[in-house]
Amino acid sequence: MDKKLYIASDHAGFALKSKLCDRFKSLVDLGTNSEESVDYPDFAYKLTNEVLKDNSNLGILICGTGVGMSMAANRVKGIRAGLVSNNEIARLIRQHNNANVLVLPGRFMDEEEAIKSVKTFIETEFEAGRHQARINKI
Ligand code: RB5
Repeated sequence: MDKKLYIASDHAGFALKSKLCDRFKSLVDLGTNSEESVDYPDFAYKLTNEVLKDNSNLGILICGTGVGMSMAANRVKGIRAGLVSNNEIARLIRQHNNANVLVLPGRFMDEEEAIKSVKTFIETEFEAGRHQARINKI
């Protein structure tokens, strides 16, 4: 199966999600589709359900702070979601944590840093080794 890149947000992340979808055409957009109020767990679970269909899949979740999406996504077995505020953390959550979901704080992150972070998240590989042993303890 081909590696797929999914993205979803609530209303607070909709504006940043739209910009990222414009920039990264390969993203599969799972909603929400407007700034009308919705519940972030509904979109977290919609996305994690798709990400778990193949080991190579990745996802991006956005809410206002990134915290609600992180809490919901990390309740799902097999999901390793990391809340990221800059490009360097986006690199480290792939290299060290083998994160399969990147979470962004839509109300607290500028577009350029978000674009850099998504690019890095997609392109960076897990380093395994000692990091795999630590992940095995979670
Ligand atoms: C929505 O107002 C806001 O609570 C939500 O986007 C998120 O920040 C929750 O963690």
